[in-house]
Amino acid sequence: MSRLREAGKLPGRVVTWLGERFELEDSVMAVLRHPVPRELERPVGWWYVLGSATLAVFIAQVVTGVGLAMTYVPAPNSAYDSLQFISHGASLGAVVRGMHYFGAGAMVILVLAHMTQVYLFGAFKFPREANWLTGSLLLLATLAIIGEWLTRLIVAGNNVGGATLTRFYATHVFLIPAAIFGLIGMHLYLVVKRGISEPPVAGLPVDPPSYRARYAEMLRRGIPFWPDSAWRDAVAAAAVVAAVVLLAAILGAPDLNKPADPTNVVADPRPDWYFLGYFAILALIPPATEAVVIVGLPLFAFTFLFLVPLLWPDGERHWSRRPAAIAAVALPFIAYAALTVAGIESPWVPKLEGGTLPGSVTQGLTEPARRGSDLFVSKACVACHAIEGAGGRRGPDLSHVGSRLNRDQLTARIATGGGGMPAFAGSLTPNELDDLVTFLTTRR
Ligand code: HEC
Repeated sequence: MSRLREAGKLPGRVVTWLGERFELEDSVMAVLRHPVPRELERPVGWWYVLGSATLAVFIAQVVTGVGLAMTYVPAPNSAYDSLQFISHGASLGAVVRGMHYFGAGAMVILVLAHMTQVYLFGAFKFPREANWLTGSLLLLATLAIIGEWLTRLIVAGNNVGGATLTRFYATHVFLIPAAIFGLIGMHLYLVVKRGISEPPVAGLPVDPPSYRARYAEMLRRGIPFWPDSAWRDAVAAAAVVAAVVLLAAILGAPDLNKPADPTNVVADPRPDWYFLGYFAILALIPPATEAVVIVGLPLFAFTFLFLVPLLWPDGERHWSRRPAAIAAVALPFIAYAALTVAGIESPWVPKLEGGTLPGSVTQGLTEPARRGSDLFVSKACVACHAIEGAGGRRGPDLSHVGSRLNRDQLTARIATGGGGMPAFAGSLTPNELDDLVTFLTTRR
């Protein structure tokens, strides 16, 4: 019995021993116990846990990433097989891959939620501008690590050349994570040095000359971060990691893409949901402006992010006194949500199944026009074009094309294609082309 009691004291003794030998009292413990504003004890303190939750998911990404790297082989002939083995052969492999996959999504959500909270609380203002700047770089690195990996899967498929694969892999497992580690170090250093911002009070603006003294005064009545405030962070961190584990355990790893098939002309590669809106923009804009949007939109967004603390370092912090700031958050979120919905529906992707024309369209056609209407279905025109509500929406509705274009124009349009319309000169005989045009001229 007494031996058991002795054993029970062991962990405490180990901690004390380590603390003394490594002199943690005036370093790690001092940092953990640093004072924070007393208001964080109140429920408003829950708004402050998003950064810790993000960090926890990032650490989980590193752990699962190392686990995957033990088995994944970044070589053209082995990459697909090794992923197959991780997902179906290795014990817990599917869960680890699933955690890495859902962890990536969780990180995007949490980083954005954290930034939104910091922005709406005005916590980026003096003297915490550099916290915001390093945070923006962390967002950039987070999106880069995910985007780069996705590009490999979507643009290059799983069978890219060896050099490309090695470069992608090295960037994903060394370069960007190393950058994130360095930035997290700076970010946390600043969080401790600058102190955690007090919850904003409407009518109490940030006045740089007097802010420091006011904040120091506030901290004299403060509470120690550990344990009085940090328990919320611990709870939130445990909750998000548990959610990722649960999703991975229940839903498992995402399906492996088949090795890319170059003969599939209507491939519909889907990015993860958080990039769907971005893909929707690219699908909806005129092709000529694509380069401008691909480079320009992120450039504009990040330039804005970096300018935020430099343009608005002082003044009111409370969101109720910053209507423009609320709009700056709400509008992009609403726009992106709408684009994501469009991305999910993606009317610009050809419809592969169920292409038939309604009886009202095919009724009473002359013999050539009826053959044309059959060709319209068998040559998959209907995958991209709708007539009287039936068909895809990739190309224009052709219900009344006969009143827009004459025979010659129709013939030229179908034979030569262009602007997202395939050229059919090679895959239709002159008679078939004639029948198709005859059919379309009935559409007035
Ligand atoms: C992969 C999708 C796709 C397929 C398949 C397709 N088209 Fe098109 N088509 C388009 C797009 C996109 C346009 C619009 C091009 C533009 O804006 O210049 C278009 C334009 C047209 C036009 C001109 C419409 C107008 O109002 O100016 C006609 C006519 C047409 N297609 C007929 C056909 C026929 C007939 C077939 C089958 C043999 C066919 N298309 C197959 C995508 C497709």
